[in-house]
Amino acid sequence: MALARTTSVAVVGIDGQLVEIQADLADGLPGVTMIGLPDAALQEARDRIRAAIVNSGESWPVRRMTLALLPATLPKRGSMFDVALAMAVLAAAGAVPAEPLREVVLLGELGLDGRLRSTRGVLPAVAAAARAGVRRVVVPGANVGEAALVPRIDVRGVEQLADLIGFLRGGPDLTVSHRPRRRRRERPQPDLRDIVGQAVGRRAVEVAAAGRHHLLFAGPPGSGKTMLAERLPGVLPPLGVDEALEVSAIHSVAGLLPADAPLVRRPPYQAPHHTASTAALVGGGSVHARPGAVSLSHRGVLFLDEAPEFQSGVLDALRQPLESGEVTIARSGGVAHFPARFQLVLAANPCPCGSPSGGADCRCTSSAKRRYVSRMSGPLLDRVDLQVWLLPVTPADLLAGLAVAEPTEVVAARVAAARAAAAARLAGTGWRTNAEVPGPELRTRWRLPESTTASADRSLDRGELSARGYDRVLRLAWSIADLGGRERPNPTDVAEAVTLRSRWVRT
Ligand SMILES: Nc1ncnc2c1ncn2[C@@H]1O[C@H](COP(=O)(O)OP(=O)(O)O)[C@@H](O)[C@H]1O
Ligand SMILES: [Mg+2]
Ligand SMILES: [Zn+2]
Repeated sequence: MALARTTSVAVVGIDGQLVEIQADLADGLPGVTMIGLPDAALQEARDRIRAAIVNSGESWPVRRMTLALLPATLPKRGSMFDVALAMAVLAAAGAVPAEPLREVVLLGELGLDGRLRSTRGVLPAVAAAARAGVRRVVVPGANVGEAALVPRIDVRGVEQLADLIGFLRGGPDLTVSHRPRRRRRERPQPDLRDIVGQAVGRRAVEVAAAGRHHLLFAGPPGSGKTMLAERLPGVLPPLGVDEALEVSAIHSVAGLLPADAPLVRRPPYQAPHHTASTAALVGGGSVHARPGAVSLSHRGVLFLDEAPEFQSGVLDALRQPLESGEVTIARSGGVAHFPARFQLVLAANPCPCGSPSGGADCRCTSSAKRRYVSRMSGPLLDRVDLQVWLLPVTPADLLAGLAVAEPTEVVAARVAAARAAAAARLAGTGWRTNAEVPGPELRTRWRLPESTTASADRSLDRGELSARGYDRVLRLAWSIADLGGRERPNPTDVAEAVTLRSRWVRT
């Protein structure tokens, strides 16, 4: 056998495509040629594969060798093809039977010692193989857990290349070695019961969760902005099955899935520091496109604490994903898409010195304050339905005790019911949550009587609300009605929605 074929998967973004790998051995000067857009990592792969084969007790064929990855036009990155390349070489050399390799997709990176190493992107790769009708896939033992999340495909975990070789020669069956043994132990989430007072802040968290509205907390240091924001993920409903797989696929590509608990069931939460780069936030990487915080928080919460402290270019980079729900990363080898449908939470102090607002020690000029605030640009804030000003709770409130505070569990139950109500109302529209519904639709299809919108109409007339602000109030009113179990907003819901607007950032 001088020509052998194996199959692997190329993952770009979180999309996978089958790749055929051919190894051809011919007489002539010994050496290796690779065809099919191999990047630098693939050249390194050649050396890794040779070492892995030799250290697995096999011999490296001393022939003129051509390795081809097809289709040639597909950009192939990374170390996912090592095992498939090694097996193609061994099959071409006649060291293992070629026939059983036709039915299986081989995924994973090899160590020099012949070990199959944990590899990024196995979950989307297996999903792509299953979609293509492949019945069996071999993955590194460390990735069995995530691979096994994909239905209708037989997953075999392999620790050592020698084990795979032995199996093909009729040795012991491949075992499934690293099945997830336990369900992910839910990390203890910060609970709303820790928060004293702050009725408006708590309500904002609840309404934001119900309608999936973006949220801004403004207010002086110590007013509980960070504390409240951190409690939003806890009141969100768990991810649906498809959502969980999609989110897990993104985390797989980022190399963040724990082997023993690979399915992300809770809405993810990302809180990048304000020194984060644009690439860290929206994704990038010079060779491999890697998801950034906006994609790692897909279907979850992206919290930017001290938002005006972020570099303005970094904040501007949020606009594309906020608009389209995805990030496009162009690299020389092609274009990667990552989903990025996150719920944005911003926290901001009113001035750069960070002293309590209006405090005697604040020396910021009013123009410095304006500049500071405007670092969160209009187009960004335009998308933030909820903009709430917080004041610190008084020491007396804090002393009054925690007993009265409603826990996350109770709020989460109301949110779940509200989400279900909104989803039922929006069924067939393509939208699932109130935050997605465009203003014109709210003003026509779901038009409310003037008697209901009177308080918002007055704010609009007085110039306290812009036209966009008015639409945001309507969206919030629907979420408030959903939380209250009402079929449509009443005048009180609209009035409450008006109050859930900052007296500071009025857009
Ligand atoms: N409403 C509150 N209930 C309980 N503790 C609070 C409350 N507000 C503030 N704190 C206390 O003050 C600290 C600072 O709150 P934090 O959320 O960091 O404020 P901010 O982000 O607005 O500066 C918290 O860690 C907490 O100990
Ligand atoms: Mg803070
Ligand atoms: Zn100041």
